[in-house]
Amino acid sequence: MAKMAACVVESGEDAFRKIFKFYKRRNPPPDFSDVIDFSRSAQSDQVIPAILDPSGVSDEETARVGLQPVRDWRAFGLQGYPGFMFISNPFLLGSKPFWVRQCLKTYPQKPNVCNLDMHMSPSETQDIWDKSVHGLSCPPSRTQSKTLLDRLRWVTLGYHYDWETKTYSASHYTPFPADLHSLSFQITSACGFPGFNAEAGILNYYRSDSSLGIHVDESELDHSRPLLSFSFGKSAIFLLGGTRRQDPPTAMYMHSGDVMVMSGQSRLLYHAVPRIVAAPQGHPALEVSGCGPASSLHDSVVEPLSEQDWAVCSRYTHNSRVNVTVRQVLGPGQSFPETPSSHQRTDADQTDGDSAKSRKRRSCDCVDTVET
Ligand code: OGA
Ligand code: MN
Repeated sequence: MAKMAACVVESGEDAFRKIFKFYKRRNPPPDFSDVIDFSRSAQSDQVIPAILDPSGVSDEETARVGLQPVRDWRAFGLQGYPGFMFISNPFLLGSKPFWVRQCLKTYPQKPNVCNLDMHMSPSETQDIWDKSVHGLSCPPSRTQSKTLLDRLRWVTLGYHYDWETKTYSASHYTPFPADLHSLSFQITSACGFPGFNAEAGILNYYRSDSSLGIHVDESELDHSRPLLSFSFGKSAIFLLGGTRRQDPPTAMYMHSGDVMVMSGQSRLLYHAVPRIVAAPQGHPALEVSGCGPASSLHDSVVEPLSEQDWAVCSRYTHNSRVNVTVRQVLGPGQSFPETPSSHQRTDADQTDGDSAKSRKRRSCDCVDTVET
């Protein structure tokens, strides 16, 4: 906090908003020296080791979904944030491209829902990948118009989040992807939450100038279950605040492959992504083609990519970031209320206070991109 204290107030009236704007600023660029980087060891006394349960998950089970053995994970907590866990890229070398391809090629497909469906017909938003790859596999030219993949901002899975009402409902559900459920199940088991049921997913697609406003994820009906977040591609600054808007947030980097678990007291904290930043030197967003995962595993979820798929994913993640949040909506034995609940997110909860703008953002594009 030391260096930032001169620039922004530490607490008081909407300290979160001030720090959000501090990190979002382009000119002059902000000082990033207070941002916690979990990929470097021992650089903040706020970082504490996290306790994992390696007995709950076998090495074979983790390898199937492209994860290292749990005993090799570098998992951390943060002083003052009980229930928050940060796992610094637990993926096996060569398995991230598979998950990126799922996010770009598989999950945007029907019956899943995406932002483009809001103003395009189902036939137009079918095969987003196929309609876009030509443009992506040859060098971009000035005259080329944006591909559908370039215009993809969000995808919802399982119980589809309704951005307008900020609710999930029993009637708007399609099967949650089995592979992403397995990945989420292994991670939550290792973190001490056996029996996690992945029921809803929100994928956010960020360009270099995108941000995600200040919010709390409280639409799920059972807050005792953890919320999982996966990051791929470019890095981001993540701000984790408190239960009140005026609590000043802690800034941290999210790099490609990093996983966050928000549970317990940290499940309902304000958070935001003010800025996308370059991946660190020597840590490319996607490892080189050809060092694919061991395909000899029986029943492996992760499979090698074709050269073309890898090239498209590599190019995309060079300029962009994909974030996947996985949520359990209902507790064991719980069901949706008969009538839609009226107790949901309010305007004050979202973004940086500009509620008209944030309503627009939430209703069409979750991730707010400055059009250039
Ligand atoms: C969300 C979210 C954070 C991120 O989708 O609710 O907080 O890192 N995403 O994109
Ligand atoms: Mn969130």
